[in-house]
Amino acid sequence: MSDSHTKIHNKPLRVAVLVSGNGSNLQVLIDAMQAGALPIEIVGVISNRDDAFAITRAQRADIPVAVLSHTDSGKRMTIKTFERHASTQLDEWQPDLILLAGFMRVLSADFINSSIAPMINLHPSLLPVYKGLDTHQRVIQAGERQHGCSIHVVTADLDAGAVLTQALLEVLQKDTANSLQTRVQKLEHQLLPWTILLLAKGVLPLHNEQLSNQQYTCMPTLPWKLYLNS
Ligand code: GRF
Repeated sequence: MSDSHTKIHNKPLRVAVLVSGNGSNLQVLIDAMQAGALPIEIVGVISNRDDAFAITRAQRADIPVAVLSHTDSGKRMTIKTFERHASTQLDEWQPDLILLAGFMRVLSADFINSSIAPMINLHPSLLPVYKGLDTHQRVIQAGERQHGCSIHVVTADLDAGAVLTQALLEVLQKDTANSLQTRVQKLEHQLLPWTILLLAKGVLPLHNEQLSNQQYTCMPTLPWKLYLNS
């Protein structure tokens, strides 16, 4: 077993979180961390929007926040500028894991491939189906009977990295895009801490080489699926 893997077992997993909005998933992790239910330390939060409520949630928990939303002239920061600042910040925080939780900018292949730590994303569909935006609306329009959310490794291809875990629900006749969003978020709030716990304990692989490593062949095939009350 590698040193980095052993290290993760013994110390809290250092997690940096990238956000753009409400931050309800960030809050779930803050609550679990503060309750001693998750062996993690949220070392910092980066927001690409200065009006994200996630910033307030992080500040209330005394977690360092970097807001990388605008240039000095008030224009939207280019992705390259955002990534340059984000890299500097992440180098300072030295996370073991970078979590995209409702982060709404598409990151470049360069940034992802040179990341200081593995990166995972929470996506509101049962990947590989319904990559991208407006997943709930598209699921309703297609008349799907099943929907849910996925946590996957971030790669240069959008929403296409290895899927680690999923939580599933049955789409009801009465469901709308809004009700599905609410129901899927309820799943996310359970799937995320469960997945982070498995990563922090070294049960789920964090690194690409571990993802394809023989030592996991005795485990159920990824993604691991949760059927929860939604
Ligand atoms: C989540 O529903 C997630 O699936 C999507 O963005 C939303 C973020 O919600 N990528 P929040 O900011 O954690 O409340």
